[in-house]
Amino acid sequence: MNILAIESSCDETAAAVVRDGRTVLSNCVASQIEMHTIYGGVVPEIASRKHVEAVSGLAREALERAGLSREEVDGVAVTYAPGLIGAVLVGVNFAKGVALALDRPLIPVHHVRGHIAANYLTHPDLEPPFVCLCVSGGTTAIVDVRSYTEMEVLGGTRDDAAGECFDKVARVLGIGYPGGAPMDRLADGGDDAKYELPRAHVQGAELDMSFSGLKTACLNLIHNAQQKGDALDLPSFAASFGRAVSESLVPRAMEASRRKGYGRLAVAGGVAANRRIRADLEAACRQSGDRLFLPELKYCGDNAAMIGCQGYYEFLAGRTAGLDLNAYATRDISLG
Ligand code: KG4
Repeated sequence: MNILAIESSCDETAAAVVRDGRTVLSNCVASQIEMHTIYGGVVPEIASRKHVEAVSGLAREALERAGLSREEVDGVAVTYAPGLIGAVLVGVNFAKGVALALDRPLIPVHHVRGHIAANYLTHPDLEPPFVCLCVSGGTTAIVDVRSYTEMEVLGGTRDDAAGECFDKVARVLGIGYPGGAPMDRLADGGDDAKYELPRAHVQGAELDMSFSGLKTACLNLIHNAQQKGDALDLPSFAASFGRAVSESLVPRAMEASRRKGYGRLAVAGGVAANRRIRADLEAACRQSGDRLFLPELKYCGDNAAMIGCQGYYEFLAGRTAGLDLNAYATRDISLG
């Protein structure tokens, strides 16, 4: 089954063709980052307009690169939640048009389910059940992936997402947007014990996390240093920050995996590209005996191949939509 997949939930317009859920025939991404960099963050209105401009050309390119004609498309999958609502609506409406024109099923896909599915593309032998740590710009959650389409959130952030925290701290340091990758690189050679930063605990909810205190502590530290005219040791600050984020995420992911006992732990989302978090997870899994699944870097950030992959399993589970499909800014992953 050839699925044409569309993703437009944030600042990347993406189209891909995926065969039978696991074989990527094409994967095209048009990033808007350059445009939003000027403003230090995503401007929703601009994002929507850029998606409108890019989406049809990108879908055509995805088909061309896959070497398929329109008639060879068997289904149209699209991210319908969560995301910037105007941005998601662009993809949903485009996908509806294609599904209607080709008379093919329309398959709605939850964006975070897509991030989880990125692991199936990298690891052909991975099958549910497993526990997945989902960490992106908008989501930080530990998910029990019971089957391809049955999922439950075991723990999550009570406030900011980990990626958001990376982005805000990087913005105040003036090292660019999105800030995760530059912060990751900046940490090279730094002393991760030089700056003492807080790790939050949510009482009574061991698997929940909080990043707003860490973010505030970082911003205060940076502003205090600026006011006193002290120079921050930037690599050590970035390394201390990366360690604080990792030490919030990794022990909870390991605890969730221990509780579930599947012996398989996956990671998903843009922050899954972080080298410190990857290294800490690798070390923790070596010790626990869990098998660790990390998505290839090209599938960590937003892309449509992951939507085409998850879309296949949603289709097999009978989860298709009519042309009255709506888009949602927020939606629980367990609802699909
Ligand atoms: O998954 P993604 O592309 O978009 C969302 O669905 O949110 O994730 C983007 C997030 C941004 O916050 C970005 O700063 C972060 O992923 N990110 C990283 C790294 N690369 C991207 N965070 C930490 N370390 C990285 N290497």
